[in-house]
Amino acid sequence: MPFQPHTVIEPFRIKTVEPIRHITREERIAALTAAGNNLFLLKAEDVLIDLLTDSGTGAMSSAQWGGMMQGDESYAGARSFFRFEAAVQEITGLKYVIPTHQGRAAERILFGAAVKQGDIVPNNTHFDTTRANIESRGATALDIPVAEGRQPQFIHPFKGCIDLAALDQALADNPGRVPLAMLTVTNNSGGGQPVSMENIRAASAICRRHGVPFFLDACRFAENAWFIKLREPGYADKTPFDIAREMFSYVDGCTMSAKKDGLANIGGFLALNDTALARKCKDMLILTEGFPTYGGLAGYDLEAIAIGLHEVLDEDYLRYRIRSVEYFGDKLTRAGIPIVLPTGGHAVYIDAKAMLPHIPQSEYPAWALSLALYLEGGVRSVEIGSVMFGRQPDGSEKPAAMELVRLAFPRRVYTQSHVDYLAEVLLYVNSIKDRIRGVKIAESPDTLRHFSARMAPAHGALLAE
Ligand code: F0G
Repeated sequence: MPFQPHTVIEPFRIKTVEPIRHITREERIAALTAAGNNLFLLKAEDVLIDLLTDSGTGAMSSAQWGGMMQGDESYAGARSFFRFEAAVQEITGLKYVIPTHQGRAAERILFGAAVKQGDIVPNNTHFDTTRANIESRGATALDIPVAEGRQPQFIHPFKGCIDLAALDQALADNPGRVPLAMLTVTNNSGGGQPVSMENIRAASAICRRHGVPFFLDACRFAENAWFIKLREPGYADKTPFDIAREMFSYVDGCTMSAKKDGLANIGGFLALNDTALARKCKDMLILTEGFPTYGGLAGYDLEAIAIGLHEVLDEDYLRYRIRSVEYFGDKLTRAGIPIVLPTGGHAVYIDAKAMLPHIPQSEYPAWALSLALYLEGGVRSVEIGSVMFGRQPDGSEKPAAMELVRLAFPRRVYTQSHVDYLAEVLLYVNSIKDRIRGVKIAESPDTLRHFSARMAPAHGALLAE
């Protein structure tokens, strides 16, 4: 028998390194206080392992850095734009490709052109910027994930799917008020869970039947394609590229943050087939992003994305990527720490409601846990719970469906020993979990409050003695 290794190695060598810095627990307490107990407001250099987001934080390859030197910085008609456009068209099959500086700019332009007051936009689960961009149009962002997706510990291969009956109902009940429907792959806010091809196909058919355009929020399309390959019958022998092509074949357009599966540090795009809508979007693009052949990006960014979109579909990369997140999740599960199962594509999500039953939802258990992880281990994560989602457009409060702490992995950045260290931090914090105390909001803006709210201990200290 030939050698069959068990270990999935990082499929790259490290050519450039960036030091990370240990600071003491006392220094972290001071940093946290200065940041108003909001991890978004920390200085990054005060963080040891930064799992705040997988967005724009990845390491680019030597091919991407090399490609950037070929960037054509012409204002109009740059060679780099045509390379970028060809890369997007090759994968998505969509006709019009509109570059934007990141995903939310694509959202703002799409919704600005297509969504009006009183409209409804269904999705498996809207990401926070998507929701905010829809609500800022005076429209409703409707989340209709499958029921399995709302049960953190329930194991199901495709918990990211949209509830097809609910989608059909929403379209039937609101004729003329649904300008488009969306599907987020993978479902970030629902735990990084994938959507099956069957669900994409069926959602597309429902939208067609109602004459409603169907869009993908495609940020993590390659990770979703890999899960389809691993888990959906009939796809094991297909390449991630072919699977991605098929996913996009069912849609009329997509929004994309190239900061995720574009393997770039900045960038995004809107791609679509409708000629009139594309024209409207390009007109809006010129107002705030830039001319349609650069859309707020430098020529070198377009090069980096064109190459990244190709690299992200590499099987060795995707195997390592998904396995390294699962490896971390397995360690936590073995230690009895409740996480969203199975592990998602880009992140491990801790179920703070289950882990900290002594903290009521009104005292933001996931936020409190994220602070403890920083305090004890210098780890930065993000709350996906009632601080992020609890405030309703009318100003009232409604607890989020889940209180999660997301530990999102930058692409190609951390190694297995970083992950082993992270697991040690989690196990330690789990051992002192009864001492973690709830928090309250001291000061907050009206929208997207998690980015800048200042928080305070609800009972005198973050950790009981
Ligand atoms: N859609 C999804 C599903 C996302 O996860 C994000 C960003 C966006 C849209 C917006 O893209 O940041 O390029 O404007 N998510 C990041 C995160 C910020 O941490 O999950 P963007």
